[in-house]
Amino acid sequence: MTDSAGKIDQYRVNSEPYYLPAREEVMQFEAAYAARLPTMLKGPTGCGKTRFVEHMAWRLKRPLITVSCNEDTTASDLTGRYLLDANGTYWQDGPLALAARAGAICYLDEVVEARQDSVVAIHPLTDARRYLPLDKKNELLLAHPDFQLVISYNPGYQRMLKDLKQSTKQRFVAIDFHYPQREVEVSIVMHESGVARDIADKLVSIGEKMRHLKGHGLEEGASTRMLVYAGTLIAKGIPAVQACSMALVQPISDDADMLAALSNVVLTFFS
Ligand SMILES: Nc1ncnc2c1ncn2[C@@H]1O[C@H](COP(=O)(O)OP(=O)(O)OP(=O)(O)O)[C@@H](O)[C@H]1O
Ligand SMILES: [Mg+2]
Repeated sequence: MTDSAGKIDQYRVNSEPYYLPAREEVMQFEAAYAARLPTMLKGPTGCGKTRFVEHMAWRLKRPLITVSCNEDTTASDLTGRYLLDANGTYWQDGPLALAARAGAICYLDEVVEARQDSVVAIHPLTDARRYLPLDKKNELLLAHPDFQLVISYNPGYQRMLKDLKQSTKQRFVAIDFHYPQREVEVSIVMHESGVARDIADKLVSIGEKMRHLKGHGLEEGASTRMLVYAGTLIAKGIPAVQACSMALVQPISDDADMLAALSNVVLTFFS
């Protein structure tokens, strides 16, 4: 067994991650994977992108290596570096190199946050030849045939501050994510939090009202994740109004008028 084959085992998705499709995304991803096209999951925070890629890795029986990018993420963090131990120096593949070598799906979460040099480092993997230059090691790593590159991208709040370059964006096919339709979201909240249908129904209604406030005082609408959190607190015995305050109202705004307005929305459903 090669070194990378041993390391990759920890990234296998052995049991099915719960994911309820909202639209055509499963079929779209399967087609993109079949063609090994680099794929961008585009959508607001907490709408199911990470859960989706976990589910797809399980479906496609590919290991999944996830990297959460931030402003300190360098090209070496992705590709690898030489390390030192008692026996001298040795090369350690970074997560992107490991995924390319072993035929995993590499999911770069919030890639827009990463430094420009690391974003550019992924470009050759999106070319027809699919290679990753490991300059420091003097190796041209040709990607395994099963390797796929997936990135996530939230088009909303980053636009003003940071954005991906066109030369990066145009290397990917995009799957557009939104919050799921009402019935799907109710089922997700029930499954994930354990609350009964009537409670999940009310939480989703509150979520819908909050989403209408996006751009009218709220930067983002309430995510499915927040609705799941509210349900989880209710299932743990927190009274519904308090749970909504903790999970839906307080985290999303610091503006006193907005907080009062959101609390009133909650009170129209739970009192
Ligand atoms: N379609 C779905 N099926 C099952 N669960 C879902 C779905 N959509 C959202 N969820 C629930 O919402 C939670 C948040 O979703 P997830 O972490 O995948 O969001 P995300 O889009 O990756 O957000 P971020 O951009 O902040 O990383 C999940 O943990 C899961 O409980
Ligand atoms: Mg995510």
